[in-house]
Amino acid sequence: MRSMSYGVGLMLFVLGSVVAAAAADPYAAARQLMMEKDLKGRDITDVQVLKAMELTPRHLFVSPELQQRAYDDRPLPIGHGATISQPYIVALMTQAAQVRPGQRVLEVGTGSGYQAAVLAHITDEVYSIELVPELARSAAERLARLGYKQVRVKAGDGYQGWPEFAPFDAIVVTAAAPEIPPRLKDQLKDGGRLVIPVGPVYGPQNLLCLTRKGDTFTEEILCPVAFVPLVQPR
Ligand SMILES: C[S@@+](CC[C@H](N)C(=O)[O-])C[C@H]1O[C@@H](n2cnc3c(N)ncnc32)[C@H](O)[C@@H]1O
Repeated sequence: MRSMSYGVGLMLFVLGSVVAAAAADPYAAARQLMMEKDLKGRDITDVQVLKAMELTPRHLFVSPELQQRAYDDRPLPIGHGATISQPYIVALMTQAAQVRPGQRVLEVGTGSGYQAAVLAHITDEVYSIELVPELARSAAERLARLGYKQVRVKAGDGYQGWPEFAPFDAIVVTAAAPEIPPRLKDQLKDGGRLVIPVGPVYGPQNLLCLTRKGDTFTEEILCPVAFVPLVQPR
């Protein structure tokens, strides 16, 4: 009798813990599925990138009505004609950038702030530029509210980079440029990497990874992609 009540007690405790965990993060299971199927199940192998993706709550970077779809491997609208990129592409770009703790990284195209948050799980020096002031403001507020205090966001034109904080160990551009912006190349450290989709607005676009060695840049094509354009303000 005593062992039965102990068993029932244990079962209630486990059940209570499961319910509490689900209430704290109702998307934990969906995120785990994304990790296994869309990241580890493909070619994302960098343990720091995998950890960062696991720790970043993508559902808190989209509007409430889209939260149910936050862990689908697809981009989602975030307003102003912009999108939050699909999780696989965010992970692939972060992996290609090879960011390590203590390094300084620039993101161009803050959008929702999700990619910046993923980077902030790896290093505490993240700078991000967004052209649309409303998106820059809401991303900065969201990142601060979620505790990503190490991300600095500014509204401005990413083609210019952020010279005050250059050079960067890595630059991740999350909108497609017709060609590689020369100022971003200039602001890359020797040995640094620039990950950027390049191509016309309606494709074909390729995701490129450039590595700097002195004044020489080697270029690797990672995969075909479809990004919103990196707008050139007049
Ligand atoms: C695919 S979305 C970025 C998604 C974002 N990284 C995220 O995690 O949500 C591309 C973003 O680039 C921004 N953008 C376009 N042209 C830009 C420019 N010249 N400078 C900075 N941001 C720009 C867009 O407004 C849009 O928010």
